[in-house]
This record gives sequence, C-alpha cells and structure tokens, in this order.
Amino acid sequence: MAEVSRLWLPVRIPIRDDTHAVVAAQQGRSLAAQLGFTLVEQTAFSTAILEIARNIVKYAGGGDITLQVVQDGDRAGIVVLACDEGPGIEDIELALKDGFSTGKSLGLGLPGAKRLMDVFEIASRPGHGTTVAMQKWKRPTSH
Ligand SMILES: Nc1ncnc2c1ncn2[C@@H]1O[C@H](COP(=O)(O)OP(=O)(O)OP(=O)(O)O)[C@@H](O)[C@H]1O
Ligand SMILES: [Mg+2]
Repeated sequence: MAEVSRLWLPVRIPIRDDTHAVVAAQQGRSLAAQLGFTLVEQTAFSTAILEIARNIVKYAGGGDITLQVVQDGDRAGIVVLACDEGPGIEDIELALKDGFSTGKSLGLGLPGAKRLMDVFEIASRPGHGTTVAMQKWKRPTSH
C-alpha cells in the first residue's frame, strides 16, 4: 500500500468549457489508475466526472472540480468536489430522476453519475450555485 500512504495533494481543475471537462475526466482517470483502480473502475470514475463537469459548463457557465485522495485504514478512495456559482438546482430530487432535463438533453448525467459512484451528494442554493460531492472507493483486491 505504498502508493496510499504518500501525501496526495488536492488537484483543482478550473472548468470553463468542454475541453476542461475532458481534462478533469482524464485527470480523474489518471489518479484512479495511480491508486490501482481497475480499468472498469477508472472508466466509471472518469465518466461520472465528465458528466458533472459538462453540467458545470452547460448550466453554470463555469466552476471548478477538485480531486482528493482519501484513506480509511488501508482503504483508498477519491473524493470529487464540483463547485459552481451558477443558477443552482431548484428541485434536487427531480434533477436526479432519469430523463429529467431543462436543457433538452437526455437527463441521464446526474442519475448516471450517482450510479457510478459510492457516495453522491448535491447541495444547491438557487441563485447561488451548486456543489456536487461524490466519492469512489477502490475495491479490495483479491489474492
Ligand atoms: N451544475 C448545475 N447547475 C444548475 N443546474 C444543473 C447543474 N447540473 C445539473 N443541473 C440541472 O439538472 C438537470 C439534470 O442534469 P443531468 O446531467 O442529469 O441531465 P442533462 O444535463 O439535462 O442531460 P444529459 O446530462 O443526459 O446530457 C439539468 O437539466 C439541469 O436542469
Ligand atoms: Mg448533464
């Protein structure tokens, strides 16, 4: 577990357009790979980041994403904090339903990201902004 016990500084990625969203997803994948997540876990993790980052671009016009490695005993995981100062989400429960979209899109980004992560929370103040906090643990490797 040498890779877990080192000090991991948070990585903050400003999100202004879709290319930044892709960068955030790639950084997330790379961090997950460094922690030993499987390829499937890496893909799930980066897909969730991409969806949340694309929402920041589309609905808030910008914000940032911070990735932080966390540890609980010998368990390692990654926390993602996605923050914006956009219009906020009026009804979070509704926004998390499959197919709900105010942007004439599929409405699968938030519920899809939630399914891909172990922890998923949204805090939002209409008129002030939105924070999505999500976390994924590395599955224990079998020997
Ligand atoms: N950061 C945000 N700020 C404000 N509203 C948001 C934000 N993220 C999501 N929403 C709202 O929640 C709704 C659902 O988001 P979700 O990502 O599930 O779907 P979508 O972006 O509309 O479509 P898709 O992601 O499938 O292309 C959005 O249509 C929007 O109204
Ligand atoms: Mg979306």
